[in-house]
Amino acid sequence: MTARAAITGWGKCTPPVKLTNADLERLVDTSDEWIIDRTGIRERRVSHVEVVDMAEVAARQALAAAGLAPTDLDLVVVSTMSPEIVCPSSACLLQERLGAVNAAGFDVNAACSGWVYGTAAAASMIAAGAAGRALLVGAEKLHWMIDYWDRSTCVLFGDGAGAVVLEPAADDEGVLGIDLGADGKAGRTMVIPTMGTRGSLTAERNPYDHYFHFEGQAVFKIAVKGMEASVLRVLDRAGLAPEDVDLVVPHQANKRIVDAVVKRLGIDPGRVMINIDTHANTAAASIPMALNDAVDQGRVAPGAVIVQTAFGGGVTWGSTAIRWGERTEPLGHSDFELPPCDKSVFELLRASREFFGPMHGKTNADAVPPE
Ligand code: UT7
Repeated sequence: MTARAAITGWGKCTPPVKLTNADLERLVDTSDEWIIDRTGIRERRVSHVEVVDMAEVAARQALAAAGLAPTDLDLVVVSTMSPEIVCPSSACLLQERLGAVNAAGFDVNAACSGWVYGTAAAASMIAAGAAGRALLVGAEKLHWMIDYWDRSTCVLFGDGAGAVVLEPAADDEGVLGIDLGADGKAGRTMVIPTMGTRGSLTAERNPYDHYFHFEGQAVFKIAVKGMEASVLRVLDRAGLAPEDVDLVVPHQANKRIVDAVVKRLGIDPGRVMINIDTHANTAAASIPMALNDAVDQGRVAPGAVIVQTAFGGGVTWGSTAIRWGERTEPLGHSDFELPPCDKSVFELLRASREFFGPMHGKTNADAVPPE
């Protein structure tokens, strides 16, 4: 290891169209009270654009905050489980958009742990001297794979993107420790077969072949134990104790999961960044979006010790311990934005409702709720 990788720029993209709990009450048999009680979620965003469009907004903000031009980058990594196409990778599509002509690019898919795995990959490449300045983006358009007739999953997820710039740092700053793990056997608890080659090669898409299999309670238990153990390991590797942590930025899967993890760790809940109420679970995008909000809200002090921790499909888990640098203000700002959207949230969800409708005995006429 030659140099630690520190975060020098940060950004996020929140697509404009909101899906509130009240909207969901019109789609499925649920209630605002149930969703808030069981998950902490009040609303989430549904994207009218593709993953790379959101990634570009977050990336341009992160570059501006770091005071860098796209040509200064020599690595672009995109963590996503919802790429718009399989090849080229989202990272290469983004590299072209940005004009980051000096950068290598690849994607990471570790589901909701994708951000931590991506941080590990980029930081380790910087530490090994294989990369200098890296752009890491977490971006997801999860609504594309969710069945908006299924109340057990459709209330949980949202779309968005977050990004950071990582650069070689002084010895005592940057990524101090990494813990990654996986348990493929337990991976059967969360399966999203869509976008894979499994099945027959036909023009017709069958909703049964694309259905998201999700065992919420089993995942909940594995998540709490897995994240607690992973945070303890990463702190040990970094020579730190739970009381040294200034801010935990967890994957925003469920507020109850986060509360249980920090309680077990003995970390003051006031030191935990939560934005699940407005963003829901955005998989690989959730930690960088929460980190961006934490910096914007002044919750990251110079030299702060930050722990990022996540758990997700695979199953996978991981944590990083990071010491923030002296600068908590962005060096510059980007005005780059998504194009506006003139559709309602129900129109954006129409495709999902029409596609999965037959599995629930519904027709296209039922797809959009009446006014
Ligand atoms: O990022 C990694 C991936 N995701 C996760 O980590 C999520 C992990 N799991 C969870 O967050 C929770 O397990 C859920 C939020 C998914 C579910 O909460 P729960 O407290 O485990 O509820 P449950 O699955 O035990 O369901 C309790 C009841 C059931 O009714 P019955 O059988 O008791 O009559 C469900 O049918 O709640 C019902 N239910 C709902 N009711 C209203 C399930 N979804 C809903 C809903 N609205 N949206």
